Amino acid sequence: MTQLHRKIWGRKIARPLKINQKRLLEEDLPRLQLHADFGKSLNPQELMPDFNGYTLEIGFGGGEHLAWQAQQSPIHGFIGCEPFITGVAGLLGCIEDAELENVRVVIDDARVLLQSLPDASLDRIFILFPDPWHKKRHHKRRIISDETIADLSRILKIGGELIMATDIQDYANWMQDILSKRPEFLLNLQGRESVYQRPDHWPITRYEQKGINAGRQASYLVYRKQGN
Ligand SMILES: C[S@@+](CC[C@H](N)C(=O)[O-])C[C@H]1O[C@@H](n2cnc3c(N)ncnc32)[C@H](O)[C@@H]1O
Repeated sequence: MTQLHRKIWGRKIARPLKINQKRLLEEDLPRLQLHADFGKSLNPQELMPDFNGYTLEIGFGGGEHLAWQAQQSPIHGFIGCEPFITGVAGLLGCIEDAELENVRVVIDDARVLLQSLPDASLDRIFILFPDPWHKKRHHKRRIISDETIADLSRILKIGGELIMATDIQDYANWMQDILSKRPEFLLNLQGRESVYQRPDHWPITRYEQKGINAGRQASYLVYRKQGN
């Protein structure tokens, strides 16, 4: 993506922030926020030097999954990227409740962050239930695209994992089509019978639960980046 402008589609302002959300944003955000920008490198190893490996979650929603992962692996560093402030306040609440030291947050369009991260700087990237953008004319807004996959590949270490889930079959097909054009990525079923079988190493997310309640079948697409 040569010329990229920040563009966040969909809702920009949710409900007014509650008092506790405002407190978290005022008190905790300044020490936990990382800033991505065009032409600026955001190197996890330099910004979070005390951790052993790094995971990025794009579109973390309320932050519950990211906080759960961070609690499981306290010596591993986690970066969450989410443009919507209510979700960020949710993550800050989870960080406070679990007294997590290993999470940082980027409040931005993930495509800006992807361009800022150095080559081979991440061990895992989670993209769980991203906005599907159903209409064909909106498909270019999808966070998985031929352009973003180049950056996702570049910033992952060899042996690193790209972990995606969606309960929109058309988007699952779209993701698999894009990944099939990238020989460095191999689908890794991790002992599962198919992509429809849920991996057991993360908790059900908020959007995933909505899909389950509505009777939708999710696809869980875990790809491992191969070496040359
Ligand atoms: C359908 S929700 C899923 C949230 C969460 N992962 C879950 O499973 O409950 C999609 C999330 O992606 C976020 N999002 C949308 N566009 C984004 C972008 N360009 N960069 C990063 N996150 C984005 C939304 O704000 C929202 O939190």
